Parts: sequence; structure tokens; C-alpha cells
Amino acid sequence: MKRILIVGAGGQIGSELTMLLRSIYGNTNVVATDVRECKFLRETGPFAVLNALDANSYGYIVNKYKVDTIFNLVALLSVVGEKDPQLAWKINMGALMNSLEVARQYECALFTPSSIGAFGATSPKDKTPQDTIMQPTTIYGVCKVTGELLGNYYYTKYGVDTRSVRFPGIISNVTLPGGGTTDYAVEIYYEAVKHGRFTCPISSDVYMDMIYMPDALNACVQLMEADPSKLIHRNSFNIASMSFTPDIIYREIKKHLPGFKMDYKIDPTKEAIARSWPNSLDDTCARDEWGWAPKWNLADMTTDMLKIIVERHARGEI
Ligand code: SER
Repeated sequence: MKRILIVGAGGQIGSELTMLLRSIYGNTNVVATDVRECKFLRETGPFAVLNALDANSYGYIVNKYKVDTIFNLVALLSVVGEKDPQLAWKINMGALMNSLEVARQYECALFTPSSIGAFGATSPKDKTPQDTIMQPTTIYGVCKVTGELLGNYYYTKYGVDTRSVRFPGIISNVTLPGGGTTDYAVEIYYEAVKHGRFTCPISSDVYMDMIYMPDALNACVQLMEADPSKLIHRNSFNIASMSFTPDIIYREIKKHLPGFKMDYKIDPTKEAIARSWPNSLDDTCARDEWGWAPKWNLADMTTDMLKIIVERHARGEI
């Protein structure tokens, strides 16, 4: 990776990935783009407003900046996707197809995230294997599975260097996620600090895989820097670091904030999606093929999340 383009850089992953990549590869070598103006990204390096569905503008920017690696982070998440499946398909697949075509035309490597949402109720629930049944029941999952297949197709058919990980729910303290099933595991920290209570939309005993943002960002860098001769898989690698239920994260937060209270008001859409996803993924292939090794567990992440959110709250930022 020498000249990098991030598409969808204003989102939950992009806003932090842009900063990390700029610190590693140099500010001028990381071009951030988003469908909306993002002042904070423009302040530290090149930024352009780009609608990823506009193939001509996409190609123009890749050519202008002589990009060799693209991170396509454009996506509507699982819950919001169910509200308008046609729009979710249009955006998720439109951005991906343009990314693949631009990568083919300008000989770029391409990273596009997949997700635990690529699995469904018919997949093995615990330690879900790398290669297994994938029959998701959300439009988000359908897009992810299709995207994985397309990524592999462009690799075998055209030699495009496509790589991807299946992200667990990502927990971060900079930019909030929006419209996902795993969002509760981020919101709970903010509500605990701000109001001392949280109403959880998912049942107390539903396990899902989660990951702390620093590990998620390292996965992106490490996979894109990996020796291609070692990669048996490409689209997409299971990665895992922690798996918990609402009750488990609640108890962890309570160790720091003993007065914290949680009740439940189940959201049927979120509940159904969460129950259809794996409890935990088997990430052996990522560990073997490119050295994936997460650093964060629930206890350490909770300490760090609460410290940072308390500081932000004291500064009046949230
Ligand atoms: N975090 C996503 C969601 O909940 C899953 O990848 O939709």
C-alpha cells in the first residue's frame, strides 16, 4: 500500500481508519472520500466528496491520485437495510461493483468488509467455520455474501487483488455506528456514562461476536499487507476476539459503575437478526494465513471505552 483511497471515510470505520493509515503511510498518501463533506478528514490530508455510485467520478479520483489500494467502506447496515431493501442493494452493491471495476481498470488492490451478517440461522452457531453454509435472511447479509463471491470472482477472473474480513460488531468511541444490530454494544457505554441506565433492544442471552476498533483497524492493515502467496482464502476471513450477550456486557460495565441499571424493550427486527447470526466465529484461517491475533478482550475494552467516554462527556462533546 503506497497510495490509498478510502471510500465512505466519514463512517464508523472510515473516520478512524483514515487517521491510522495517514499515521502509517503519510497524510498525503491517504485520500479520504465520502458522500458528505468531512471537515476533520480534510484538515489532515487530501479529501474529496465522492458518491461511490458515480463510476466516472470514482475513476477520475483513482486516476488523479494514482491510487494503488482502495478501501470500500460504503454500506447500509442490517437494521436500516430491512427498512428499504431495494435501497440497501442499490448502495451496497452499487458501491462494490464500481469499486471492483475501478480496481480492475486501474490495477488497484481492494478491501471490502464482509460481516458476521453474511451467516444465517442455518450456519453452525458456535465457532462458525470459515467455509460453511451461508444463507442470511437480511438484505445486508445477501449483499455481503454476493460481495464475497464477486470479490473472489474478480480475483480469479481478472487477477484483482481483492481481500476482506468478516467483521464482528465493531465497538468504538469516536464515530457512532448507525442502523446496525450490534449497535447496542456501543450505545450501552454512552448511556451508562450519560444517564446511568440503558434499555436494551436484544434479549439478555443472545450471543454475538464483537471487536474493539483498534483490533478491527489492525485487521485491515495486516490483511492488506499480508504476503499474497500465503492467502488460501480472500473473500472473506472470519475474525474474532470476543463474544458476549447483553447481560455479560452489562455486568462488565457494572464493575466500573455499580449504580448502572439495564432493562429490556425488545426490538423484534433486531432480535430476529441477532438470533439468526452466529454466537461466535472460528478465526483459525485468519490466524494461520496472515497472523491475525487480536489484543483486546471485553474487560480491557470496557475499561478503555468508559475512560474515553467519561473524558468526552466531561468536555461536553457528547
Ligand atoms: N455491525 C453490523 C450490523 O449490526 C454487522 O456487521 O449491521
